[in-house]
This record gives sequence, structure tokens and C-alpha cells, in this order.
Amino acid sequence: MKSKLFYHFILIIVFICKILGQEYLPIEGGKCEKYIGDSGEKICDGYLANPESIYVYNKTQEETQTELKNLISILKLTNPDKVCINPNNYKIMCSMMFPECIDLKSPNVSKSVSLPIYTCNNFCKEALTTCSVSSSIASCNKGSTLPIQLPYTPIEWVKYNLSNYGGIDNYTVECTDPTLVKSGSDSEIQVECIEPLIKRITNDSKADLDKGYFYVNSQCVINCPVTGMHSKLVWNQIFKINDVLSSISLVCTLILLFTFGILNPKLNRFDKKNLFFIAGVFGMSLSGVLIAANGSEKTVCPTPERYAVNTDRVCVASGFLVHFSALFAILWWTIGLADVYYGIKYVGKKIKIKIRYYLIVTMIISLAFTLVPLGTGQYQAGLSNVMCFLKDEIYQSMTFFVPLGICLTLGTILMILVMKEIYVIVKSKSSSNSKSDSISYLKLQVKPMLNIILFYFTFLYLFLFVRVVNSRYQEYEDSAIPYMLCLAKGGGNSCLLKGPSAGSLGYFAYCLRIYGIYLFIISFLSSRTIKIWKESIILNNSFVTPIVKFFDSSFSGRFSSSKNTTTTQNSTFNNTNGSGSGVGNSSGMTSIGLESRNHNIDDDDL
Ligand SMILES: *[C@@H]1O[C@H](CO)[C@@H](O)[C@H](O)[C@H]1NC(C)=O
Ligand SMILES: *[C@@H]1O[C@H](CO)[C@@H](O)[C@H](O)[C@H]1NC(C)=O
Ligand SMILES: *[C@@H]1O[C@H](CO)[C@@H](O)[C@H](O)[C@H]1NC(C)=O
Ligand SMILES: *[C@@H]1O[C@H](CO)[C@@H](O)[C@H](O)[C@H]1NC(C)=O
Ligand SMILES: *[C@@H]1O[C@H](CO)[C@@H](O)[C@H](O)[C@H]1NC(C)=O
Repeated sequence: MKSKLFYHFILIIVFICKILGQEYLPIEGGKCEKYIGDSGEKICDGYLANPESIYVYNKTQEETQTELKNLISILKLTNPDKVCINPNNYKIMCSMMFPECIDLKSPNVSKSVSLPIYTCNNFCKEALTTCSVSSSIASCNKGSTLPIQLPYTPIEWVKYNLSNYGGIDNYTVECTDPTLVKSGSDSEIQVECIEPLIKRITNDSKADLDKGYFYVNSQCVINCPVTGMHSKLVWNQIFKINDVLSSISLVCTLILLFTFGILNPKLNRFDKKNLFFIAGVFGMSLSGVLIAANGSEKTVCPTPERYAVNTDRVCVASGFLVHFSALFAILWWTIGLADVYYGIKYVGKKIKIKIRYYLIVTMIISLAFTLVPLGTGQYQAGLSNVMCFLKDEIYQSMTFFVPLGICLTLGTILMILVMKEIYVIVKSKSSSNSKSDSISYLKLQVKPMLNIILFYFTFLYLFLFVRVVNSRYQEYEDSAIPYMLCLAKGGGNSCLLKGPSAGSLGYFAYCLRIYGIYLFIISFLSSRTIKIWKESIILNNSFVTPIVKFFDSSFSGRFSSSKNTTTTQNSTFNNTNGSGSGVGNSSGMTSIGLESRNHNIDDDDL
């Protein structure tokens, strides 16, 4: 899991390593200076043995201070407990980074020279141990090439050959115990979480993870929505896409349900299937509207400290609803496709299974796959999400993507078969020189095919998106290291975690919610619905009829061609509906076949 990595991440700070000799050290030629003092955050004021004289070499005090600040930030981030962040460790770190300085002057030497008093090795080790710094990250032994390079720390003493300065050749400097420094106040050092992390006291950060609190260390939680991944502005845009599209989709699917379910005077078999399919899409939109109505950000992130989990009702409800509806819709999509194929292949025949059996089976399948995750509290928002859905990958796979994959595969096969049948028909038609007939037939196929393809690619994208996100998890996790480093250095909002791009997240929200709108464009803007509406009570009363007539006459010129198809379709529709016995006529085989195909596809509009 991501959290483990957060706990064990490695951070890289480059310290100038002082690779020095075993006992005799060369004379570097540094200077003694007065400590410049902390600016802002308390670092070494009060923790230095002799702030009047510290050894400065090759780096300014400001530079060393920055390094030290980064080191402290990292320790605070990785190990903010008192056992690490305490005055003792501050004294050790300050003593290592700002060693006390001895100024040797005559009579001891003829030429004055400054030498550092190093911190004893065991204190360095103590600090690393208490801060649980892994031995693969930093070491107190000299000559290490580890990511964090610490200043040299002798075991007991170092010797200098001062003969060039007119002194003895075995001048010995003992190492120092920084913990002996008397600091004015040994009050606890406050650990603040680095922005955008939020401080939250906890006893058990692992248990709190199940409550939606994602601890980066033992005191700080990652904020929600994760601004380390995308800026607040981008998140708001993604949420807005979700809100707007689900609302429009909801209205669209409601209109479709109303048109086909209530206004429709003759509710045939295909209408019923279509209605169940639309109902599924309606449920998906409703889930989005549920989130939007509750406030998208509030639903996904109930507080900035945590993401929504299985105790947040709106989140659970929307997750359950979108899962159930998507399964329900795709099952009906597959059933519809199977019917289209059957209708084309076995000319004139219809599958005899009653719709209610389909309904029972689809209900059972959808419920079976959704009640289990509901019972096990799987519906959560998780980090960096725009919706509530299944939390664990295994549940995502077993209860959503496997059924989805099976349906999509079946759908693909059926689609290929349908296309093959169409191809065969078109070919045989064109050979019999009735080209216009086959073209009008093809026109009838455009919308159902478009619907199938759009549905297909929408769900294929959702499927691939989740797969890609899962497969790149390691990459995203690895970006935690540079992210923390950046935060420790004070990068704030410019520090970024890797994750799914804003575009792909936005497109995910788009795909999930747009479908009702697609469906509306494809299904509603058809001659069939126009007919239903025209004949409905709403347009067929003394109020509206004159207006309709006016529009009808003014537009009739422009839409003459589409009116043509309306009439042909009506006649076909009446034919097949009127009597099923017409199929028996073998001489009119092709025309009947075409009629039944038209019937299947057109009034299904699947
Ligand atoms: C002194 O600092 C420079 C860069 O500022 C660095 O390249 C060099 O290695 C340092 N010398 C020693 C002895 O640390
Ligand atoms: C310098 O020499 C004197 C006398 O030899 C000694 O008392 C003093 O401690 C020495 N100073 C240092 C800094 O070693
Ligand atoms: C000290 O340095 C001088 C001059 O560089 C050299 O002659 C002498 O041998 C050195 N002494 C030791 C103990 O290394
Ligand atoms: C330094 O060397 C002198 C003689 O060269 C010797 O008397 C003295 O004990 C040595 N001091 C240390 C600390 O090794
Ligand atoms: C922490 O644990 C103690 C006892 O183990 C308990 O009394 C206290 O309420 C807990 N605090 C929180 C914030 O959970």
C-alpha cells in the first residue's frame, strides 16, 4: 500500500562529506565565526556549546542553515514523534552542522589556525537510531556514499600536524558531547505539519486509515482532495464536470423514460428492453446527481482531513447506485445486442423469452455483484477520486470489471456478427441492383450502431483507465519520495505527486456521466420519438396543436427526406405488429427479412 511507502521513504539531502584521514586530519583552513542566529523557526539558538565561535569552512552559515532546516523538515516528516524531535537531537544536529571552533594563536602556534571540535560518533548514531533513519539512507561512518551525507564524527579524538603552523605535530582535539549543552528552556519542540499536510493527533494511524485518514507520518494526514496531485482549481473543474454532466444526463434520461415509457402508446418488446437499459443509465446519472446535490467535494472529502468511507451515507449510496446501474445497463445492452443479432440472423424470428425473466436475471446478477461489496463496506471514495466506488482492486475486478469484460466481449462478438450480417445483406442487395434500398437500410443501422459503439468505448475507457491507474501504482508511489523532499524544502503547492493526469480523471468523470446525453441525442432525436410526441396528449390538445401545425408546415420543406423515412418505418412497424403470420410468405422473403430487421432495430433504437 501507499502508506507503507510513505513511512519508509528515502529522502536525499546532499551534505558535503568530509572525507578525512583516520586519525590525522589535514588542516582545511576554515574560520571561526559568531553564529548568525536563527531566522524565524528555532533551530540552533540555545543549543550550541559556544555560539560565539563556530567553525565555518567552504560554506556560508546560511547555506549550512538551509541544509539543517531541510534535514529537520525531513525528520519531522518521517518521524515527528518526541523520540526523534526533541532538544537532545536538535543539539546533536546543531553540533554536527555548526561545530565549535578553536582559534590557535601564539604562543601555541606561530601562524594562527582554526580547528573544528567534532561531535562524537555515538551521538550521531543515537540521533539516527531515535529518528529511525534506515542504514541505507544515512550513516555516521566516514566515507559513506549514502543519499544523506553527514559531517564527519570521530570516535574519540582527531590529531593535527601543526608543524607547518609552527606547532606540535600531534595536536589532539577531543570530540564533544553536545547533549551537555545547557539550553535555556528544554520545552518541547512543536512539530507542525508541512503544508498541505494537516496535523491530526492519533493513537493508531493504521486504524484511522480505515476511517479515511491517510497518515503520511504519525501526526500528519494528507489533505483531501489531494492538492499534491492536482491543484484545487483543477479538482474543482473535475468536480464541476461531474456535477454538470450528471444533471444534464439525468434530465435527458428522464425525458427518454417519459417518452418511451409513458407517452408511448404501444409499448412493445423492444421498448421495454430499451426502457430497462435507459433506467440503468438513469441510475448512473442519478448517482452523479446525488454526489452533486450533496456537494461533490463534500461527498468525496467530508473534511479536508479525510476522504469518504463506508460510513458516509451519500458516498455509499452513490457508489452502490452507480455500480448497480452500470451493471444493469450493460446487461440490458448485451441483451439488446443479442436480440438485434438474432433478429437479423434468424429472419423474422424473435427470442421468445419473456421480458420479466430477463428482468429477474439482470436484477439478480446486478444485486449479487453489488450487495457483497455493500456488506463488506467497499464503497469508499479513496484518495484522489472524483466519485465513490469499490475500494479494493480485487472487488473492482471481481464485481465490476469481470462482468463488464464478459459483457463487452460478448458485445464485441455480437457487434462483429451483426456487421457481418449487414455486409452480407448490403452485398446481396447491391448485386440485385436495388442500391437505394440498401442505402436506406444502412441509414437505419447508423443510430443503433453509433449507440453500440459509443457505449462500448465509454465503458472500455472506464475499464482501461482503472487498469492503467492500477498498473502505474508503483510509479505513483515512487513519486512520494521527491514529493516529500520538495515539501521538506518548502516547495508547498508547487510540489507534485504523480497520479492520473487531470485530463484522464476529467475524462473518466466525463465518460461516466455523459452517457445519458449520448443516449438522448441518439434515441430522442429520431422519427420514432417525434411521432410519439406528436401523437401524445401533450402536443395533441387544443392549446398546442395550432403551434405544432405552424412549425410543421414551416419545416416540412426542409425535412422532407426525413419525413419519408418516417412513413416507411411506420408502415413496416404496422406490418410486423399487425400480424406475425406474414413471415410464412416465402416469395417475399427478402422484403420481410428487411422489414423485420427494421422493426427490430428501429423501434428498439438500442
Ligand atoms: C567546497 O565547496 C565546493 C562547492 O561549493 C565543492 O565543490 C568542494 O568539494 C568543497 N570542498 C570541500 C573540501 O568540501
Ligand atoms: C596553548 O599553550 C598553552 C601553554 O602551552 C596551553 O596552556 C594552552 O592550553 C594552549 N592553548 C590551546 C588552545 O591549545
Ligand atoms: C608533519 O608535517 C611535517 C611537514 O609537512 C612532516 O615533515 C612531518 O613528518 C609530519 N609529522 C607527522 C607525525 O606526520
Ligand atoms: C606528542 O609528541 C610528543 C613528542 O613528539 C610526545 O611527547 C607527546 O606525548 C605526544 N602527545 C600526544 C598526545 O600524543
Ligand atoms: C488514545 O488511547 C487512549 C488509551 O489507549 C484513549 O484513552 C484515548 O481516548 C485515545 N485517544 C484517541 C484520540 O483515540
